[in-house]
Parts: sequence; structure tokens; C-alpha cells
Amino acid sequence: MTHSSPEDRSPVLEIIGGHRLSGEVRISGAKNSALVLMAGSLLCSQDCRIRNVPSLADVARMGEVLSALGVKITRKDDALEIDARHLSQSKAPYELVSQLRASFFIIGPLLARLGIARIPLPGGCAIGARPVDLHVRGLQAMGADVQIEHGTVHACIPGVNRRLKGARIYLDYPSVGATETLMMAATLADGETILENAAQEPEVVDLANFCRAMGARIRGAGTNTIVISGVPSLHSVDYAVIPDRVEVGTFLVAGAITQSELSLAPVVPDHLTAVIAKLRAIGSEVVQETPSRLRIVPGTSRLGTDIETLPYPGFPTDMQAQFMALLTLSEGDSIITETVFENRMGHVAELNRMGADIRTKGNHAVIRGVPFLTGAPVVATDLRASAALVLAGLAARGTTIIQGLHHLDRGYDDLEGKLKLLGAQIRRVKGDTGAESVSSLPVMPRS
Ligand code: EPU
Repeated sequence: MTHSSPEDRSPVLEIIGGHRLSGEVRISGAKNSALVLMAGSLLCSQDCRIRNVPSLADVARMGEVLSALGVKITRKDDALEIDARHLSQSKAPYELVSQLRASFFIIGPLLARLGIARIPLPGGCAIGARPVDLHVRGLQAMGADVQIEHGTVHACIPGVNRRLKGARIYLDYPSVGATETLMMAATLADGETILENAAQEPEVVDLANFCRAMGARIRGAGTNTIVISGVPSLHSVDYAVIPDRVEVGTFLVAGAITQSELSLAPVVPDHLTAVIAKLRAIGSEVVQETPSRLRIVPGTSRLGTDIETLPYPGFPTDMQAQFMALLTLSEGDSIITETVFENRMGHVAELNRMGADIRTKGNHAVIRGVPFLTGAPVVATDLRASAALVLAGLAARGTTIIQGLHHLDRGYDDLEGKLKLLGAQIRRVKGDTGAESVSSLPVMPRS
């Protein structure tokens, strides 16, 4: 891993740690719902309005993918207006798909609408190889002819009526993306599709509710068996994305790691059961102030605990890095086992640069609590790793400089702005001067 040269002017985050935070945080819409709802909007040949869409680089990029397919998309405040009537292009551009894995999920709706889809393989990413075999096998079971040639997945529906057929599909692993791809494809298929060993994540339920609001017939989302009865077409919709449970979790850890009381809304507490249980095990209290508001009340001491990431409702892999940052400061030892992605420990070396004591073997990390962290220059290796470094920086003594902010901007809606409102000493500056405030978030066209 390389740290940047003195000439590198990419923005960095500068955090002066050791300050208590206080106040309320407004939680944005869920990234992983918004992205898949945008893919799902391709199913509909009328107007779609998706509200509570977070302002993120990944959302802007997904917007570019849809535009490249002939879809009209505009942003008005927190809403996206999407018109896929004139969906014309069946091939997604490699430059975009390679940057955003979620864009592969358009394969299901594209195939269902046009009878043909050509999507470049998204390839591996910083956290693992991330194959798409489950998506492909499911589409084949529904009658699609799928070939992979020259790095592109070519899928088409043979026959004259160009409609997928309902099928009974058992997923070898409850993949979130494969469940979403197949659920979307099945909404317009001929007959009934049964997805067994389906993912149960809240974002899968949100997608099912979005499709149902457009007239799809889906039951069982949120359980491991989802049944979809195909309909000939879907109608227009106005729908709000659920709150981002990973953003909530990240702010809960921000409270615990800086020993600060924070109040967060809107949240769906049921989406955070595993995260709240682990915070309690560490010695913090999480109080439900209203049905959609949580308060973190940190304990006076922080205990170690063991964590294993699992598909929902297990402990989320997307919170693993943030909890590792927290456990570096616990009084005991902890073991974290990452079972969902094979390479999601990039933050370990960086946390160790800040004085943490973490050793890894394979997908296990052993964390010995230390009394304090010290600020240091560090590099974010992926989205959740960057959040972990921000959290560590908030608690550390002295100044932490975080490089690689493009990762953070993919998935957190104004994290530093929200932390500043809580009293954090955090600012985005040009890489070498440490002086000018900058903003680097790409902007989607606004109407
Ligand atoms: N997998 C396969 N074959 C497949 C699909 C998945 O082997 O065809 C494997 C993956 O390689 C991985 C495991 O199954 O090891 C889980 O992958 P899954 O398909 O469930 O994840 P995903 O749909 O690619 C979504 C989120 C991730 C989140 C995971 C797990 C989106 C856009 N992304 O990814 O979010 O970690 O589910 O909950 O929904 C993040 O937000 O930081 C992030 C990485």
C-alpha cells in the first residue's frame, strides 16, 4: 500500500481527535436500497419517483448507467425522477459497470424489459472476487440463454414472446444481489418463481415493496423463501427509500468510540438488532426514544467481544470495520471473523498505524484492546474501511489524515458535515497544503 507523494493534491480528511460529540444526526436513505431501486425502475415503462435518495458518488454513477441505456433521469432535492419508457440500449458501458458492482444488477430488469442484456462482468473489487454465478444460474433457470464472452455477460430470451419463465430456484448462498436480480427478473416473467435460500436483508424487502407499489406480485420478502407471480407490466410509482442502517450503525459506533451520547433519526430499530446487541455486549446502551429514533448512551468502560459477520439477520459485514475500530479501544480481547467477503481486512494495517494491536490470520482478526490510539496519516482501502478510519481518528489523540476519500464519498452522504454538526473537528483539505477546504462529490444533473 502506498502513501501519496508530497505532490499529491487529492483531497484528504483531517481529523483532530479526542473531542466529545453531542447532538442529533439526520440519517439519509439507504445506499444499497437506492441503487437497486434505480435498477428496478427499468422494469417500469411509466414515471418512477424515488424519494429519500442519498447524495452519493455511487448514486450519481448509477444515474450515468441508466442514462447510457436511454433512460431519462433527473434529481430534484432528495428525489430521483426516472422515465424508462424509451429504454433502448441493452448494453451497459464497461467504464461504468467496472466502477460500480451494483450496476450489474440491471441485468434482471433489462432482460425482463428488452429480452436481451449485455453487461460487462463487474470484476473483483477491494473486498473480494465477487463472482456473479448465482445471478447467471438463476436467469438460466428462468429460460435465459446466457453466455460469457470477452468479459461480457450476454443474456437473451429465446423464442418469439421474449418472456422469462417462472422457475423454482435454490440459491447456494443467500446473495443479496442475486436475490435482487432474480426477484426483479421474475416480476415480469410468465408464471410463478420461487426463490429458496433467498437473502433476507432489509434492502431486499425495500425492493420487493417498491416493485409491489408498481403492481408486482411478490410475497415472502424478508424470509428465506420469496414467491413472485409474474405480471405483464408495471405502473408508475412514488416511493421513499428506507433509512440507511449502515449509516445508523456507523454513528452509533461514533457515539461509543468517543464516549458521547448521540440521537439518531429516522431509523428502523429492527434493522439493527445484531448491531445493537453487540454494542450492549461492549457496554454501551442503545435506547429507543421513539419508534424511529435511537440514542446511544456509552458505558464508562468498553469490553471486548467476539463478532462473526453473517447474512442478515446476522451481524452485517458492512459494520465489521467500524466495530474493529471500536474494539481496538476495549479493555479486553476480541476476535472478529469475516465470513461474507474473503478480503475485507484492509483497515487492519491502517488501524495498527494508529497504535492498535490487531493480528490477522485468514479471515480472523484478533484485537487486543489498547488504552489509546494516536493520530497518523492513513489510507482508506474501501468504503467501510474509510468509515472505520474516520471513527478511529475521532477517538485518537492528535491529528489523523485520511487519504483515499473517493471510497468514503461512494457511500456516506456528507459524513464530515454531519460529524461537524456534532462538534467533531474534521475538515476536507487539499492533499499537500492542509489548508483549503474542498468538495469533491460528483453531482447528478438537477432539473
Ligand atoms: N457471491 C457469489 N456468487 C454470486 C454472488 C455473490 O459467490 O453470484 C458471493 C460474494 O462474492 C460474497 C458473498 O457471496 O462473498 C456475498 O455477496 P452478496 O451477493 O450478498 O453481496 P452483494 O449483493 O454483491 C451487497 C451490498 C454490499 C454488502 C453485501 C452483503 C449492494 C450494492 N452491495 O453486495 O454492500 O456488503 O450485499 O450484505 O447492495 C457496502 O455497502 O459497503 C457493500 C459492500
